[in-house]
Amino acid sequence: ASIYILNGPNLNRLGTREPATYGKTTLADIESMCRDVGEDLDLDIEFRQSNVEGILVDWIQEAGDVAQGLIINPAAYTHTSVAIHDAIRTAEIPTIEVHLSNVFAREAFRHHSYVSPVALGVICGFGATGYRLALEALSTVIRP
Ligand code: DQA
Repeated sequence: ASIYILNGPNLNRLGTREPATYGKTTLADIESMCRDVGEDLDLDIEFRQSNVEGILVDWIQEAGDVAQGLIINPAAYTHTSVAIHDAIRTAEIPTIEVHLSNVFAREAFRHHSYVSPVALGVICGFGATGYRLALEALSTVIRP
């Protein structure tokens, strides 16, 4: 099965960006960990990052056409994007929202997500491990 893992704005800076909040793991580290887990679970991983909302929308649409599941860390667009909400709703594939940090322990503007209502579930606060947990969760729902 094919799984898209999409990452939103500023996540390309992981490793050097606010390490106290996001850890020292880079996005490349997360990608290689996801590929390893994907191999174990027999999942084909398509891993991407963009700082551009419309590109993320295009990729969610693409995932809806070709993939069996979606893992997305929409980053700041989590809290702003109706377009990403609509794209996930329309894609009609099981979607897991991931955040490295525990957004509920942070500023109030991070407490609302446009993505959660269209996600199967949400994993936040476990750093890069959240991506692994999301892959494991997805593997149980796409292969009943
Ligand atoms: C984030 C949390 C968001 O609030 C923030 O805008 C990010 C990263 C996380 O992974 O913890 O860019 O999605």
